[in-house]
Amino acid sequence: MHSFEELSAAFATRFASRHFPDHPASLYDPAVYFLDLGGKRIRPVLCLMGNELFGPIEDDAWQLAIALELFHNFTLIHDDIMDRAPLRRGMPTVHAKYGSSTAILSGDVMLVVGYDYISRIQSSHIRRILQLYNQTAVKVCEGQQLDMDFEGREQVTLDEYLQMIELKTSVLLAASLQIGSILGGAGLNNQQTIYQFGINLGLAFQIQDDYLDCYGDASKFGKQVGGDIVAGKKTFLLIKTLEVASEAQRREIKALEQASPDEKVAGMLRIYQACGVDSWVRELKEHYRQEAYRSLEDIAVLSKRKEPLQHLVDLLLSRDH
Ligand code: IPE
Ligand code: IPE
Ligand code: MG
Ligand code: MG
Ligand code: MG
Repeated sequence: MHSFEELSAAFATRFASRHFPDHPASLYDPAVYFLDLGGKRIRPVLCLMGNELFGPIEDDAWQLAIALELFHNFTLIHDDIMDRAPLRRGMPTVHAKYGSSTAILSGDVMLVVGYDYISRIQSSHIRRILQLYNQTAVKVCEGQQLDMDFEGREQVTLDEYLQMIELKTSVLLAASLQIGSILGGAGLNNQQTIYQFGINLGLAFQIQDDYLDCYGDASKFGKQVGGDIVAGKKTFLLIKTLEVASEAQRREIKALEQASPDEKVAGMLRIYQACGVDSWVRELKEHYRQEAYRSLEDIAVLSKRKEPLQHLVDLLLSRDH
């Protein structure tokens, strides 16, 4: 069994190979620029860990790990256009540096090159894996659209928020684990349980991301702090605040809609603090962390084998970037 750190290092070596042709550089340089910015490489490692929980890591798992990381990076490039985000991984986003049209295309080509890696796998489970991969991609699109729809709405319920973040974030973590587990020879029940583990982990992970978007250390987080507030995102922090805010605070929130971006961020952060969102966020994240542990316990393999995944939960949910 390998740890997150070991698998992450092994993946990095394989992922460092060139995925794109040289020409036209105007299309591929932005793609390479973005991949070179790094990232935590969570999804590929989840695929490898999902495999290793049930059996030795298959060659196919490395191909699929690459596909999953390319898919994730494609979603980020497009997400940054949708979210009007200037920074990612501490550097200018692809659209900020090369323009939106090029960012759309270099994201597209990443998605397609990802499929090329999938087409190389030998596993007899390829149809099932492709089906799961495609279902997941559709769900991510649904989640991303809901996320944008919510920007234009006054009120979003906690359930709607949870459904949206499950679609935009959790399903890809869950599918990465399940795809790995299929290669490792897991039975259907175990596949479903590891998927559920990924869903719960993803919910806690996105709740934390929404928190860090407001309170993260910009130099570590690598994204524009307060970006969600500026973009009018309906995060858990806002939903909870609107639930508990006083009349005066509600009026202040309304007035901030007309303020400059900097004033809006400063004002909203002040109100979030006054409403005690810290403890709400901690509670909700902790709830899904516990749910994740519970799902992990339910997987029918020796508990010793689950240690790397257990360690990974703690690592991901104590990150500050
Ligand atoms: C960012 O994902 C998008 C979210 C789901 C919050 P990561 O936080 O895994 O991004 P990188 O790949 O490490 O930059
Ligand atoms: C992440 O949502 C979901 C996807 C990229 C699919 P966010 O918009 O919160 O992600 P960051 O904060 O930009 O990484
Ligand atoms: Mg974003
Ligand atoms: Mg987004
Ligand atoms: Mg975010």
